[in-house]
Formats: sequence, structure tokens, C-alpha cells
Amino acid sequence: MKTAIITGASSGLGRELVRQIEDVFPDIESYWLIARRADRLEDLARSLTGRTVACLALDLCDPMSFVTLREKLSAEQPEISLLVNCAGCGVLGRLGETDTAAQTRVVDLNIRALTAVTNMALPYMAEGSRILNVSSIASFCPNPRMTVYSASKAYVSAFTIGLGEELRRRRITATAVCPGPMDTEFLPLAGITGHSSTFEFLPYCDQVKVAGGALRAAKAGRTVYTPKLFYKFYRLLAKALPSTLLVRFVKT
Ligand SMILES: NC(=O)c1ccc[n+]([C@@H]2O[C@H](COP(=O)([O-])OP(=O)(O)OC[C@H]3O[C@@H](n4cnc5c(N)ncnc54)[C@H](OP(=O)(O)O)[C@@H]3O)[C@@H](O)[C@H]2O)c1
Repeated sequence: MKTAIITGASSGLGRELVRQIEDVFPDIESYWLIARRADRLEDLARSLTGRTVACLALDLCDPMSFVTLREKLSAEQPEISLLVNCAGCGVLGRLGETDTAAQTRVVDLNIRALTAVTNMALPYMAEGSRILNVSSIASFCPNPRMTVYSASKAYVSAFTIGLGEELRRRRITATAVCPGPMDTEFLPLAGITGHSSTFEFLPYCDQVKVAGGALRAAKAGRTVYTPKLFYKFYRLLAKALPSTLLVRFVKT
């Protein structure tokens, strides 16, 4: 049975991606939903009629979660045809002035867990499978006051491009989606709401549209998908200008 694994499925973009998978990948019959909040995952699972759904309440910042996932993979030997790494977090604040645990959690989740889940899932992925990694416009240039977050997303984008090339011979594609701000729990959890004039000025992306576009981009095997013309232009600008110059203008 073709299976999709989705991290960060309990809210925001991840939940929307889960809701739209059947529109773009109708042959996927089984979903493994991963996040910490079991109640949210179970609510979502109940809404997915006609699909086999497993809810894995895992804290991906805890390395024991990797053991649990590896054991489940080994026991069930799923045919993974879609892996979505969406779980992510951020923190607004200057280094040296913010909680160390909050900053390192960003690295643990956005980099370490994404790397671990991908590495563990790949042996179960066949030719034609798709990987969708949720990056951000923050990956285009370092963002002061979100330095760790933007560096973590630069990792996600670079990881995706390198991975896609590694997997070319297996005919598996990897896509990085780079949304701008979305009105999800991410913003208050990162301490952004009400504390960043940049976020008040930037155009917002609708997570429903981002999810559909990202799934279609993954199906098409695109390497990087940036929703919204405004951010496509920003991506080009960030490629054209030295980051040492642009960084002065992209404070959060
Ligand atoms: N919102 C934005 O402005 C924005 C912009 C660009 C990119 N992004 C990226 O989009 C992705 C989704 O974020 P979102 O905006 O949808 O925010 P969100 O609603 O806060 O979703 C984050 C997801 O990650 C899960 N998660 C957080 N910590 C976790 C942990 N330790 N272990 C397992 N799962 C964990 C959360 O579930 P639990 O709390 O239940 O664990 C939730 O399902 C992230 O990678 C984020 O960086 C967001």
C-alpha cells in the first residue's frame, strides 16, 4: 500500500498538506501523521475517510523519537511514495539575548529531525517517489533577529538540492517549498506576532494555496517552489546581490 509520511501534520501548513494529498496523489492510501499533539492528529485522521491513517505522537526534538520511527518502519516495511518534512519552528530574537534552548530547538527540529527522518525513510522509497521539504523565503538570505531560523532553512534548501541530485539515479525527486509568512501558529510560537514590523509589512501567503502548489510542484519533480510573484522576485534579487549587502535590509 502506497504510504505518505508527513511531519508537522497537526496544524498550519502540514495539516493543509495532509488534507490535499489525495487531490494530487490519489493513489496514496496510507498516511503516517507525525507531531507531538496526538489529539490534533486524531481529529485530522477522522476527517480522512477512505484512507488508512497512523498517528505517531512524537517529539522530533527528542532523539528517542528516531528510535520509535525506525522501529515502526522496520516492523511495517511501508512503501513510502511521499515524504513531507513540514515540522518546523522559529524564534525571534538576537543571539546572546534569547533562550539557548529555544535557539537550539530550531536546529534540532528544522535540521536534525528533517535529516534523520529523511535518512530513515529513504530505504523504503521506490522509484518515482517524492520528497517535499518545507523551507522558507528565510533561506534566501540570512535574516538578522531570526539568524538561526534563516540559517536552518538555508540548510533545508541546500539539503533538498543536494539530495535531489543524489537521488536522480533512483528516480526519486526532492522539492523545497519556500513560502513567505503564513498566518499559522508558527508566528505567535516564534514570538513574532506584534514584535516585528517586517512581518506587518510583508505580503502573506495563504497556506491552503501554498499546500496545493507545493504538492503539485513535488509531483512535477521541481527542485524549488516559491509561491507568490513578490517572493519569486525576492529570490532572484537574493541570487543577484551579495548576501553581505542584502542582509542589512532584511532584518526581521
Ligand atoms: N508560518 C510561517 O510564516 C512560515 C513561513 C515559511 C515557512 N514556514 C514553515 O512551515 C512549516 C510549518 O509551519 P506552520 O507555519 O504550519 O506552523 P505551525 O502551525 O506551528 O506548524 C508546525 C508543526 O510542527 C510541529 N512540531 C513543532 N515542534 C515539533 C516537535 N518538537 N516534534 C514534532 N513536531 C513538531 C507542530 O506540531 P505539534 O506542536 O503538535 O508538535 C506543527 O504540526 C515549518 O517548517 C515552518 O518553518 C512557516
